[in-house]
Amino acid sequence: MYPIHRNRRLRTNDSMRALVRETILTTSDFMFPMFICEGENIQIEIPSMPGIYRRSLDLTVREVAELWKLGIKAVNLYVKVSDNLKDNTGKEAWNKDGLMQQAIRAIKDATPEMIVMPDVALDPYSIYGHDGIVENGQIINDATVDALVRMSISHAEAGADFVAPSDMMDGRVWAIRKGLEENNFPNVGIMSYAAKYASSHYGPFRDALDSAPGFGDKKTYQMDFCNRTEAIKEALQDVEEGADIVMVKPGIAYLDIVREVRNAVHVPVAVYNVSGEYAMVKAAAEKGWIDHDKVMIEQLTSIKRAGADLISTYFAKEAAILLNK
Ligand code: PBG
Repeated sequence: MYPIHRNRRLRTNDSMRALVRETILTTSDFMFPMFICEGENIQIEIPSMPGIYRRSLDLTVREVAELWKLGIKAVNLYVKVSDNLKDNTGKEAWNKDGLMQQAIRAIKDATPEMIVMPDVALDPYSIYGHDGIVENGQIINDATVDALVRMSISHAEAGADFVAPSDMMDGRVWAIRKGLEENNFPNVGIMSYAAKYASSHYGPFRDALDSAPGFGDKKTYQMDFCNRTEAIKEALQDVEEGADIVMVKPGIAYLDIVREVRNAVHVPVAVYNVSGEYAMVKAAAEKGWIDHDKVMIEQLTSIKRAGADLISTYFAKEAAILLNK
């Protein structure tokens, strides 16, 4: 009670504030999402994501080495597959010489200590741009799960440290865990996108991979953004099925969910600070309406304060450079 407690005593100067600071952002909080395309010496900026590129393998490998030097310990990989390799089975997803498999091998060769987490979902490989196999206009669950298991095993064979299913099919974590065990990959982990919402914040990502759904939307598998309890159910279920890390996605508009999930599970919680969140900060900063670096650090710190143990963010490199200063 005032004046016994004058709360401002703990805010008097920089030193005092540093002493009582509760949340401190570090470079090892980050994972960096990367877009990979075919070809050589290619680096194309995504128009809706200034500073983020789709790169060919050679330049990706070089970039990963640089990220490692900055203190970033993990990369999340997404590939842009050419249209002629897309179908409704997703079979290119488990081609042992596919772009993702080549990328995993090349990155682990060049920077073995970097934790490599390929995305597991069919949308980049689907003619329909959906995360599953389509039958009569429906996304069918169990056949999709079988495909995701094959995909995960092929990522493990290529040398992935973790696989990261982002599809939201039911039962896929358990099926993937079982597949990895049976194929002698007991140490390959699973980071599941456990509470992934059907959000309008993914637009720039879909531009980057040219993976927008060809019909309908993703609301029969991704979660309704009106729901909170369901996120806890999803996260608990994924942990039970064998997820080593569970993810909440998106971040900034879902920090209540991050806290709920953090309180409910006993595994690390990751948060995906998604493409649309990145684009909004970039756009406002470009207009001179906000201070880019300050807003970036505030948002990332807020995600950590909400309960994130790990943050997948397009800001990772810029934030690492700033934090290393
Ligand atoms: C699809 C996938 C998406 C993202 C990651 N994996 C898009 C979607 O669900 O349509 C979005 C990430 C971002 O917006 O940064 N499996």
